[in-house]
Amino acid sequence: MAKFWVCAAGAGLFLACLILHSRFCGSPVLRNFAFQVSWRTEEILYRLDVDWPEYSEYFTGATFGVAVDSLNGLVYVAQRGDNIPKVLVFTEDGCFLRAWNYTVDTPHGIFAASTLHEQSVWITDVGSGSYGHTIKKYNSFGDLVQVLGTPGKKGTGLNPLQFDNPAELYVDDTGDMYIVDGDGGLNNRLIKLSQDFMMLWLHGENGTEPAKFNIPHSVTLDSAGRVWVADRGNKRIQVFDKDTGEWLGAWTNCFTEEGPSSVRFTLDGKYLIVAQLNLSRLLFVAAPPAGSIGDCSVISTIQLADQVLPHLLDVSGKTGAIFVAEIGAKQVQKYVPLNGYFLSFGS
Ligand SMILES: *[C@@H]1O[C@H](CO)[C@@H](O)[C@H](O)[C@H]1NC(C)=O
Ligand SMILES: *[C@@H]1O[C@H](CO)[C@@H](O)[C@H](O)[C@H]1NC(C)=O
Ligand SMILES: *[C@@H]1O[C@H](CO)[C@@H](O)[C@H](O)[C@H]1NC(C)=O
Repeated sequence: MAKFWVCAAGAGLFLACLILHSRFCGSPVLRNFAFQVSWRTEEILYRLDVDWPEYSEYFTGATFGVAVDSLNGLVYVAQRGDNIPKVLVFTEDGCFLRAWNYTVDTPHGIFAASTLHEQSVWITDVGSGSYGHTIKKYNSFGDLVQVLGTPGKKGTGLNPLQFDNPAELYVDDTGDMYIVDGDGGLNNRLIKLSQDFMMLWLHGENGTEPAKFNIPHSVTLDSAGRVWVADRGNKRIQVFDKDTGEWLGAWTNCFTEEGPSSVRFTLDGKYLIVAQLNLSRLLFVAAPPAGSIGDCSVISTIQLADQVLPHLLDVSGKTGAIFVAEIGAKQVQKYVPLNGYFLSFGS
């Protein structure tokens, strides 16, 4: 593998880089790339990996979700459109492996939940066709393994489970699942299911009060046993105890301009990464210590180009790389940590 960077720094912190790069999965590529650095005195924590994936031609639809299977070094991309594969599988290094589209209607969220014994990926499907309104588990090759919800039927029921526009899910190490349902449909709820899909607890009401939601769009866990929910329509993040479901607090002060679309922690657990869709921006918010939620405090920002529209993102549990599904730019981009090498620009 060879990598050469030729970078010229010009006025106004404008960098133009020519990158010559070759990977084992394909022939050498030459790319011309330019970007405007818009950070000021904030810490810069990540840089864009312009070489990921090796061939961006595989993105043929609107890329709504991305999931990293850190155990197996795989990245799953969920995209929407007619007559295209709905799931693309890459390696974390950017080699394209395969695609599939069976039994996926309109994917929204995607989550890789591999264990040592099984490679699997879950998809929330917001389609109104015969595969829609469900949350489905696939193996790495696209074989359908499990369906939650009544396919093709939206609803509010809990027994049997029915969804309407299920937005995303998160599966923890024990196999317990946290589901946010959903993305503007009949339901505004956060459901915890056990690994055998029994309901453990639920917050299920629409509203602005604590533990009620308006478009709960993304969900993640931290190492302190807290569940973080991007309550997008209410322009806040709400936090719950993972075991009891107890409401622990909320953040509103960072999201007055726009509600959060996606939530994931950095690999070191120090920051919550929050995507703001229409603002095309990623915020890095300091993660509070166990026992306190407090106010939210933005430590760093990545401002993407106008209309990139970062929708959902995921973080590699091995390398700490952030993968961002951009529905406007119709691509997934990879940001790699600078490993403590922080740059500060005065304004
Ligand atoms: C599945 O993907 C193939 C191309 O990979 C395409 O020809 C086919 O039309 C797709 N089917 C659906 C239902 O999208
Ligand atoms: C939830 O409440 C909001 C604000 O009152 C309203 O706009 C929305 O339609 C409600 N959603 C449902 C599913 O009732
Ligand atoms: C983004 O903008 C679109 C179009 O104006 C709007 O429908 C949508 O609700 C906005 N989303 C958020 C999260 O603000």
